[in-house]
Amino acid sequence: MSNAALAPVEFDPLSETFFDDPYEVYRRLRDEAPVYYNRHYGFWALSRYHDVLAAHRDWQTFSSTHGATIDQLTDPQAEQVLSASIIFMDPPEHDRMRRLVSRVFTPKAIADLEPLVRGLVAKYLDRLVGERRVDLLADFAAPFPVEVISAMLGVPEGDRQQIRHWTDAMLSREPGNPKPTRESMEAAMYQAAYLYELAREKRRNPADDMLSGLVATGLSDEEVAGFGGLLAAAGSETVTKLIGNGIVCFDRNPSEWAKILDDPGTLPLAVEEILRYWAPSQYQGRWSTVAPEWGIASTSPARSRCRSGSATASTRVSGPRSRASRAGWRSKRSGPATRAIRSTSRGFAGCTCRTSPASATSPSRFPPDHYPRALRRPHSRIVR
Ligand code: HEM
Repeated sequence: MSNAALAPVEFDPLSETFFDDPYEVYRRLRDEAPVYYNRHYGFWALSRYHDVLAAHRDWQTFSSTHGATIDQLTDPQAEQVLSASIIFMDPPEHDRMRRLVSRVFTPKAIADLEPLVRGLVAKYLDRLVGERRVDLLADFAAPFPVEVISAMLGVPEGDRQQIRHWTDAMLSREPGNPKPTRESMEAAMYQAAYLYELAREKRRNPADDMLSGLVATGLSDEEVAGFGGLLAAAGSETVTKLIGNGIVCFDRNPSEWAKILDDPGTLPLAVEEILRYWAPSQYQGRWSTVAPEWGIASTSPARSRCRSGSATASTRVSGPRSRASRAGWRSKRSGPATRAIRSTSRGFAGCTCRTSPASATSPSRFPPDHYPRALRRPHSRIVR
């Protein structure tokens, strides 16, 4: 059936249908409504690679200060209530925070974590040896990333899984409702209070960990707690989803898995491709400080979302081939999209931060399949 015969494309990020498979919606958005307006929630969505890239780079027009999620972006008071987190900052505040925390996130500091990460991964994998049936998400992909990030932060060992449960609850939403549930709000308060107390404790008794390092940079206890909360979430649920997505991708594409077994050196490139193909983080919300320029009437200021989950899937992008695509792991057109979007990310040196590089309807080794329902709970109904 031609697109002309279809109903106008609808992009509802909180619908079950979108959750089941966002990629057909992305394709139609790029083709039919590259500057899409959602009347129900009141946001604009960009989906083409070049538009998303330009918006990410133009922080004067697409500001982070009003939040990142629909509920934040539609709340007029958001600026007053958002935590003192780097993700909600524009320059010059963002630059200041970035300079301070870069002292903690040095490439050496990250490289030094390798034994810790290897040890934790081995610990969780060892528990699965000999089991006839395992739940790879519940038993491996969910519990170990938060152990890594909270060990880095200096969260006491017994409290680390609690950080994950708070994060999951905070990011959960009911279908069709962008507002946090009562449970989400409670989890946010408990986690904020916990991290604030921990920051105070690190100020009194500094240790060799990241929260103590952040305290030493001159940040306030509130700023350290806000940053700790961001890292706890950013460093855990994204990695969990990446691993889950990877497991399903390889299960559905055994010949690709065989290539890794043949040559384990290709593994880093395979991880890059999975990140591009199924983005753990599908969109970044921004607040537009002016009316959108694309010939569409709008009141100003307006909410907007940059769909990098779609942008990396774009088949319109052309450019030099990436390292991964040269090695046969990435389509020619998807490589630059991933790389360029990542370059707009405000991640730190050595940090594995990426702006949604995973999704794809572009030519890829993995056929566009439905997003597996099994992977959508409990880590998938998240809001960024
Ligand atoms: C597969 C793993 C990851 C993915 C897909 C991912 C995704 C993202 C995305 C999309 C953003 C941009 C949000 C926005 O601009 O609205 C972001 C920012 C950020 N991420 Fe990650 N991330 C990952 C891993 C990590 C890890 C392991 C850490 C910490 C150790 C981390 C820390 C951060 C921080 C601090 C920011 C904010 C940076 C800033 O505003 O300057 N991320 N991440």
